Amino acid sequence: YIPNPTIASDHDPSSKGFIHCLTKKSIPPWLIHTRSSASYESILKSSIRNPKFLNTTASTTPLCIVIAKKTSHIQAAVVCGRRHRVRVRARSGGHDYEGLSYRAEDRRERFAVVDLSEMRSVRVDAARGTAWVQSGATLGELYHAIWSCAPRLGFPAGVCPTVGVGGHFSGGGFGMLQRKYGLAVDHVVNATLVDARGDLLDRDAMGEDLFWAIRGGGGGSFGIVVSWHIKLVLVPPTVTVFDVVRTPEHGAIDVLTKWQVIAPRMPDDIMVRVIAEPRRVTFEAMYLGTCDELLPLIHHRFPDLAMTRADCNEMTWIESIPYIHLGSNATVADILNRSSISRVNTKNRSDYVRHPIPKSIWKKIFTKLQQLTNFGEVQLFIDPYGAKISGIHESATPFPHREGVLYNIQYITYWNGDANGTLALDWSRDLYKFMEPYVSKNPREAYANYRDLDLGRNKVVNGISSYHHGKVWGEKYFRGNFERLATVKAKVDPDDYFRNEQSIPPLVSGH
Ligand code: FDA
Repeated sequence: YIPNPTIASDHDPSSKGFIHCLTKKSIPPWLIHTRSSASYESILKSSIRNPKFLNTTASTTPLCIVIAKKTSHIQAAVVCGRRHRVRVRARSGGHDYEGLSYRAEDRRERFAVVDLSEMRSVRVDAARGTAWVQSGATLGELYHAIWSCAPRLGFPAGVCPTVGVGGHFSGGGFGMLQRKYGLAVDHVVNATLVDARGDLLDRDAMGEDLFWAIRGGGGGSFGIVVSWHIKLVLVPPTVTVFDVVRTPEHGAIDVLTKWQVIAPRMPDDIMVRVIAEPRRVTFEAMYLGTCDELLPLIHHRFPDLAMTRADCNEMTWIESIPYIHLGSNATVADILNRSSISRVNTKNRSDYVRHPIPKSIWKKIFTKLQQLTNFGEVQLFIDPYGAKISGIHESATPFPHREGVLYNIQYITYWNGDANGTLALDWSRDLYKFMEPYVSKNPREAYANYRDLDLGRNKVVNGISSYHHGKVWGEKYFRGNFERLATVKAKVDPDDYFRNEQSIPPLVSGH
């Protein structure tokens, strides 16, 4: 019998029994970092990407961090956690925009972090074109391992090499190959997961409903995914990357207005995304082929871009990873550096656009962007959909933003100094409000991997997260798939053991 922490209300349990249980279950003491350990603070902060969460007095930190080296350590943490009324949160790459893999907003929450950064093997089967990747690997480690074994294979996942596979795959995962191949989770064919009873399940054992839910239903709700079996994709020997920069004063708004209808309808082997900043707009593209093939395509389909041969940078697919995210001087080896990205305070939000935004509104948006410069900075990453990512049915995985989506906007507001960033945050809220009439509606959609607690938080009623309250944020991330996710949750974790501020609530009667 494994008691559940939620049944015993929220009274504080002692962490001693939990730690004792972990060591009895053969987790060596040096892998358990309690609040009194000298190593605790540095390990906790090691993968905190957003300095606003470095002030650990502002939210609740874990009772301890368990560095899992093998699957049995994860299982022990779950079994001991339930026995001693301590929840566990998995941390893979630590990139969660709201820090939910290592901090809790409710001061009464007693939880431990299971850190998977030491479980990061990648086994590539080049002949079959598949790989098993553990959740603690970063995307850079995954891409590098694939390239080392099979240079003509790649994988369609995120742009940033330090992002963890565990959280990223749990929420969908997209990047520069999304138009050709869709999401990371569109290529997951099996997985192993430690469930709420501490059992280790593969696809056959977990069943198709749970296997469906973990491929995009968001991290931290259904269990801890240990590893993922993925189908790799073919990449050509040469890809071409280019950046075309325009200023708002020199035609950027005209080109962007046209881009909205052109980019989602281009052939699947080209992705032209937009990075909009107050004083410039970068059209950043990757084409799966050579410059000679690309030029006629762009001149025919998107002449307003005024792109020339001088803009072309030909390289291999693996070279495009550091080039796009870390800059033209970065090398392939740099994508193995788990701490290569700079740490800066950010607030991230997202929107989906299904109808082109009029030019007059883009002008107003740029006026707003230019107003921020006194107290922060802003970038809008605008990723075109269409082709493969939009061609998959919206119920095939929990990620529902498919047919009819023109593009996704990620709003990133940056500020220095004061962790509260009050002025920058007010500005960001104001921009999000301004955008409302021009983006998707009923629900206003958002991407689960761009976690935003302003969309809503779970409310715990009688020890269980309420479905009714969860719908407020859940339907924005998952549309009609939210109900199915909550039904799966009720089946596999009815006591709501795995929960955080935005975990899927179990759909049980009365909630
Ligand atoms: P982290 O470890 O913080 O986990 C995130 C959530 O998943 C938490 O709730 C955690 O408990 C849970 N979780 C972690 N491991 C788990 C496991 N093994 N099993 C179950 N639950 C688990 N996205 C994108 O689609 N494309 C992109 O290009 C980018 N780029 C990007 C750049 C940067 C700098 C950041 C900070 C973020 C992105 N993202 C992104 C968003 C990214 O995909 C998202 O934040 C992921 O959840 C991060 O996964 P981590 O494992 O790093 O986070």
